[in-house]
Amino acid sequence: MNNYLKLIYFSPTDSTKNILYKIVSGMNYNIDEEFNLTDYDNKNYENNFKENEIILLGTPVYGGRVPKIAKDRFNRIKGNNSKIILVMTYGGVHYDDSLKEFYEIMNNKGFIIIGIGIFVVKHNAIKSMGINRPNDRDYDEIKFFS
Ligand SMILES: Cc1cc2nc3c(=O)[nH]c(=O)nc-3n(C[C@H](O)[C@H](O)[C@H](O)COP(=O)(O)O)c2cc1C
Repeated sequence: MNNYLKLIYFSPTDSTKNILYKIVSGMNYNIDEEFNLTDYDNKNYENNFKENEIILLGTPVYGGRVPKIAKDRFNRIKGNNSKIILVMTYGGVHYDDSLKEFYEIMNNKGFIIIGIGIFVVKHNAIKSMGINRPNDRDYDEIKFFS
């Protein structure tokens, strides 16, 4: 029997998207739907997921927070006891309370949060940060998370 999950992400420079793909490749799951909420065209995306659906949701950290655009878009997603896994990426500077914030945004929206994780990637604005990340050790951690 095949297991399926849905990918949803805000990922302007694709690092978060790539980490989500890596996580899925370590699981016994296939992606049956993918929603890229980065594009302005998708700003009104809405979904009300069913009980048996599993979602992997990703966003980068901006200024130690969930980016406002991601927050606005994720706020339109709802579940019906659907399972959700929350994933963030950051550029190795800091992530402050962003994981807690992400949890709070997605909590009480009909989801059962079954996993939450954060991973270092290259910093897309400060080129001296996150050099060569993710590295082999990071990939081991991603595999463990999967
Ligand atoms: C406006 C902005 C703010 C950022 N703030 C942080 C930060 O507070 N801490 C950090 O470690 N990285 C920070 N970064 C780096 C991103 O979190 C990192 O490059 C992330 O992987 C980008 O994800 P994406 O490729 O999916 O867009 C920031 C990047 C941008 C563009």
